[in-house]
Amino acid sequence: MKSETVLRFEHVRFTYPGHQTPALDELTLALPRGQRVVILGHNGAGKSSLFLHCNGILRPDAGRVLFHEEPIDYSRRGLLDLRRRIGVVFQDADDQLFSASVLQDLSFGPLNLGLSDAEARRRVYVAAEQCDLRHLLDRPTHALSGGEKARAALAGVLAMDPEVLLVDEPTASLDPLMRRQVFTIFQDLSEQGKTIILATHELELARHWADFIVVMHGGRVIGAGARTQIMADQQLLARIGMDRPWYEPFMASEEYAPANVPCTGQGDS
Ligand SMILES: Nc1ncnc2c1ncn2[C@@H]1O[C@H](COP(=O)(O)OP(=O)(O)O)[C@@H](O)[C@H]1O
Ligand SMILES: [Mg+2]
Repeated sequence: MKSETVLRFEHVRFTYPGHQTPALDELTLALPRGQRVVILGHNGAGKSSLFLHCNGILRPDAGRVLFHEEPIDYSRRGLLDLRRRIGVVFQDADDQLFSASVLQDLSFGPLNLGLSDAEARRRVYVAAEQCDLRHLLDRPTHALSGGEKARAALAGVLAMDPEVLLVDEPTASLDPLMRRQVFTIFQDLSEQGKTIILATHELELARHWADFIVVMHGGRVIGAGARTQIMADQQLLARIGMDRPWYEPFMASEEYAPANVPCTGQGDS
């Protein structure tokens, strides 16, 4: 049965081996199903560590993670099933791409699901089309640009057709045109009822895209709720220095605004 909460964290604590400070510290959180969720926080807040717990790559030292209110089953079979349903696009595409060519990389997941060759191929071509990779299918993955790698990593996850899609720092290596394309994909998936969860340090992305926002700081959740509620909470945003734009102290005053600055060229000497 599908619950209203798709992923739940209960008092999760996790420290990377050999480190003293926990990356996730008593983290408790419920993520709503079928919504557009943004996990917002600065570098080091614990967003990527949270993601890696969602598909069982990392396992809590204490506390537990539940998917549709069932504790994650960390057996081999359990993890295989979980990763079929929860797709994570890593922050660094190089962590995701490991096959010789883009085609092989995109095919790996669907073939691993035990789909027929024909169905696997269909999924791969749809995902490649969505991510504008059709012309790059034979390209070795190491010979892709940063943006192409990011799209290949996303396509590999889309080809698995997961019900929950987590994308870590989706805007990082994409130019504005590609961002628009990728967010169109997120929009389509969202309209199909899938849960899309993005991690970012960009307040504007949370403000304009999310239905539900989670604010992380120091491995903890310091706020979570509907976008309007979180965006109206100046005190909360001030705790992470996001109550005003970082560039505000440097903003040009009106008389120096570009429109009033004479252009160089004729008549300008
Ligand atoms: N592989 C790792 N080994 C050791 N420490 C790590 C590793 N990955 C992240 N950390 C640490 O865990 C904390 C949370 O990091 P991370 O989850 O990457 O945050 P975010 O994604 O929000 O930037 C940070 O202090 C970071 O230095
Ligand atoms: Mg990160």
